[in-house]
Amino acid sequence: MNRIALTTGSSRRLGFEVAGQLAARDDTVIVTSRSERAAASAAKKIGSAAVAHVLDTWDAASISNIAGWITRELLRLDVLVNNAGILLDEAERILSTTADVFETTMRTNALGPLLMTQAAAPLLRRSTAARVVNVSSGAGQISSMTSYAPAYSISKAALNATTVMLASALPFARVNCVDPGWVRTDMGGPNATRSVEEGADTIVWLATLPANGPSGGFFHDRTRIDWYPTP
Ligand SMILES: NC(=O)c1ccc[n+]([C@@H]2O[C@H](COP(=O)([O-])OP(=O)(O)OC[C@H]3O[C@@H](n4cnc5c(N)ncnc54)[C@H](OP(=O)(O)O)[C@@H]3O)[C@@H](O)[C@H]2O)c1
Repeated sequence: MNRIALTTGSSRRLGFEVAGQLAARDDTVIVTSRSERAAASAAKKIGSAAVAHVLDTWDAASISNIAGWITRELLRLDVLVNNAGILLDEAERILSTTADVFETTMRTNALGPLLMTQAAAPLLRRSTAARVVNVSSGAGQISSMTSYAPAYSISKAALNATTVMLASALPFARVNCVDPGWVRTDMGGPNATRSVEEGADTIVWLATLPANGPSGGFFHDRTRIDWYPTP
């Protein structure tokens, strides 16, 4: 199937790898970045299957702009991968994290994917195989949450909860979230245990699920995991 797939934050690292893997499956990929130049350069590297568009998921006008462009130029969307994310408070603790860091992190990691999915919903409705993948983190698992990166961890738990609600609101789609593991990216650093290829694997698997695939789940290595304490 020739899908039309948008990955947020796809000019580098994990997002770029996801876009590249989807393009290798003959999908049309929309490569996005906050920088127009970075998006164009990444799309050029991927090849003719890729089109570039600027997108800042923090900015509602930017989200509305790309949704309008897809409506006019491509008419539908099959896959939305909400990959863009920030980690600002790795060294912080819950009692000292600042309002600014907390708000910025929640807006980027939790509200951004929600606004993107709301804007994409009419386009996804036109697809016969709509898939939404929210790139979360093991840090968002309430069942194993510690003191690590409070704003980041809470934002990813919020993203997991958002995924459950979106799965229910979009019954025609498969909506899931994923922990890619510790990946060698700008965020993960050079000592991370996984390559971007390994990190992208479950994301692409969820983006290309069959019609009877799961929805509303949290996945790691293609396996469903719990993200909240089970009784
Ligand atoms: N690396 C890991 O070990 C790891 C582990 C668990 C989960 N994750 C998750 O995986 C995802 C990708 O992370 P990564 O490791 O590839 O991080 P990264 O190397 O820091 O890249 C972050 C990406 O997010 C984009 N981004 C950030 N803020 C944005 C905004 N407001 N609007 C649009 N794009 C924005 C950046 O795009 P531009 O700067 O080009 O605009 C960039 O492409 C994140 O959601 C992260 O939480 C990563």
